[in-house]
Amino acid sequence: MSDFSCIPGIMREAAKVMLSAENIDRSIHAKTGDQNFVTEYDVRTENMLREAFAKALPEADMLGEESAESHSTRIADGLTLIVDPIDGTTNFIHGCRYSAISVGVCDRGRIIYGAVYNPYMDELFRAEIGKGAVAEDRGTVVPIHVSGRGLSDALAYFGTAPYYRETLEKPTFRTLEKLFAVTRDIRRSGSAAMDLTSIAWGRGDIFFEYRLSPWDYAAGSLIVTEAGGRVSQMDGSPLRFDKPCPVVAGNPAAYEEFFAGDFLEF
Ligand code: IPD
Ligand code: CA
Ligand code: CA
Repeated sequence: MSDFSCIPGIMREAAKVMLSAENIDRSIHAKTGDQNFVTEYDVRTENMLREAFAKALPEADMLGEESAESHSTRIADGLTLIVDPIDGTTNFIHGCRYSAISVGVCDRGRIIYGAVYNPYMDELFRAEIGKGAVAEDRGTVVPIHVSGRGLSDALAYFGTAPYYRETLEKPTFRTLEKLFAVTRDIRRSGSAAMDLTSIAWGRGDIFFEYRLSPWDYAAGSLIVTEAGGRVSQMDGSPLRFDKPCPVVAGNPAAYEEFFAGDFLEF
């Protein structure tokens, strides 16, 4: 059995690249699709993580967003580290100070360890399958749990990527309009990995996004379930880690109400 306790330290070290960033605007390159950007910092952070993981966990393959050939990929039969070097690149470019490194460990299609680190707030969330979820919040380790709020008291999080135009007006904004009418308020943070940790820590109650890639949700999805929450695709089936998925996550009460209501658009 591999020991994953080295992962948070490696993420903290790699995050120094994000914190040292200057002139981010000048280092932007467009990826395929409108509004889909990558900076030299995304690539440098991913390279640092790859080098460090190759030494610390040589038995694991790594699938990183910036070196993946496509959004659909074959996951190795053994361990695969599914890595987003900067989740929240648009926030990063604009200096919003709300972006994170996300590392999930996939073992034959199942996530067994996940960690998400936001260096700006020095908050690190991690979970190991069957062992619960914790937050390392500025030096203190605390167990985290989802909230018990139903939709009428809920803070609802959502995401949508400008480069997937087909998921915007219909269905994302229609679902949002319906959710806005019945919840306390809605939030769009710019980082799906952090959205999932917000659900896990009860800072939010329900989250949806019509299309995400495995590196966006690999770590966060385990952190949600280990914190007592529910997460699935929009037809209720389990998430997959070999291709993009729609994602719904929430505490059990809000998640059940979301699926029982008429919120989803297909
Ligand atoms: C994005 C963020 C965002 C989500 C997008 C993702 P990136 O990841 O997670 O919250 O809405 O769909 O692509 O591009 O910043 O790594
Ligand atoms: Ca991402
Ligand atoms: Ca990214």
